[in-house]
Amino acid sequence: MKGLYFKGNEIIKNSNRKEKNDIYRLNYHLTPPKGLLNDPNGFIYYKGQYHLFYQWNPFACEHGSKFWGHFVSDDLYSWKEVKLALAPDTDYERNGCYSGSAFEYEGQLYLFYTGNVKYENGERDSYQCLARSKDGITFEKLGPVIETPPQGYTKHFRDPKIWKRGNTWYTVIGAQSINKEGKVLLYTSTDLKNWNYEKEIAGSNVNGLLEFGYMWECPDFFELGGADILLVSPQGVEEDGDKYNNKYQTGYFIGEFDWEKNEFSHGEFIEMDRGFEFYAPQTTIDKNGRRLLFGWMGMPEMENEPTKENGWLHAMTLPRELIYKNNKIYQKPVEELKKLRKNKIEYSQIEIKDELSLDKIEGTSYELIVELSGIKGETGLKIRKSEEEETNIYVDVENKKLVLDRNNSGRGYKGKRRCDLKVTEKIKLQIFVDNSSLEIFVNDGEEVFTSRIFPSQNSTGVVLYSKETCKLENLEFYKI
Ligand code: FRU
Repeated sequence: MKGLYFKGNEIIKNSNRKEKNDIYRLNYHLTPPKGLLNDPNGFIYYKGQYHLFYQWNPFACEHGSKFWGHFVSDDLYSWKEVKLALAPDTDYERNGCYSGSAFEYEGQLYLFYTGNVKYENGERDSYQCLARSKDGITFEKLGPVIETPPQGYTKHFRDPKIWKRGNTWYTVIGAQSINKEGKVLLYTSTDLKNWNYEKEIAGSNVNGLLEFGYMWECPDFFELGGADILLVSPQGVEEDGDKYNNKYQTGYFIGEFDWEKNEFSHGEFIEMDRGFEFYAPQTTIDKNGRRLLFGWMGMPEMENEPTKENGWLHAMTLPRELIYKNNKIYQKPVEELKKLRKNKIEYSQIEIKDELSLDKIEGTSYELIVELSGIKGETGLKIRKSEEEETNIYVDVENKKLVLDRNNSGRGYKGKRRCDLKVTEKIKLQIFVDNSSLEIFVNDGEEVFTSRIFPSQNSTGVVLYSKETCKLENLEFYKI
């Protein structure tokens, strides 16, 4: 088989990561040195360090043949980029080492990923492949262990997420049935080489769910606070009011897994993030038993972002801890991120009528925590504000919604996203702003809005406002 093969380890050296006049370069989020980054892959805590791999096209700001880039960290807030882990240099992956997961076995670090092959006639093959490393840095490929999807499914068959329970290895894989329904398939193995197809554990028209998309990508399955969770990114789901407004969706099902029958009974699909750029997240468990998540702060087929002009595209979210509470997943920025905080500024007990700007509360890279009470009438914050631009986050009291409005944010994609609020009288917002990104944790992680915004560098203002009145209970601001 002939194709474009890359021996990729020269690439890092040619990185343009420190280009000075790039106002969009992120300060404390992971970005590719150049080219396009997409899904987080192989997230794992291994021998005292966090490893995060990522889907990477080092050659262009578009999707293409994918490599696995690789970051390592001791603490989840400072990361080192190491040499790339996987390059598509073998026949069974010649058009990309696609997404997958990592696991530790007999002291070595293994990757389980999809080898993607595309043919000129538009057809494709997908192989689920293993790679192994003794030092966590240099990987030896072991080749495909699942060569083809089960009967009844197309070759859209990818993104294995692996875990072990007792003596059995389990893997969920994103799939598509021949009648174009998105599914999640379960496989088991006792030796990592021979895999048995068990069954569909969820999907469009499965377990009481109706029509729900033509392809499900990047499944992840884990236990959280006594519940079994399937996290997945379905494509082709219809918009439903304020839900599923993005090009593709990411969300989860809460349920119970029957380990005898390998069956998953679950509730409805819950959208995981209410912003614009969030897709294909992956979780891992660390030494303290925390369930941690990284998401891709991007969206497939939404590649028209201004950073392309500077030769790079997309980023990871901040690392988040998942907590199961009140029948849903709460997300909170990991504790360790507090180490990034500099120069605390605090205000409290101020009436807001009309607009309020506070001394020293401004910037392009910061964490801001705001607690408001007694909210009457539209109330919120304008950030990255100048005379020409602003990004608006506000409580729409009448409709009981929280709204993110990026119609006047500057360059890039525009629009509004909303989520329901049970209570509109008070709200707590924890907001991370980083040069061209925004993550809003609402009421301690009950909802999260993740988005990219591209304001000019002098749009630094923060204005609190209320169209009637409210009280600023407390505000904390940290430069990052
Ligand atoms: C999700 C995805 C995966 C695939 C990878 C390719 O964004 O399409 O399904 O493995 O990206 O880069």
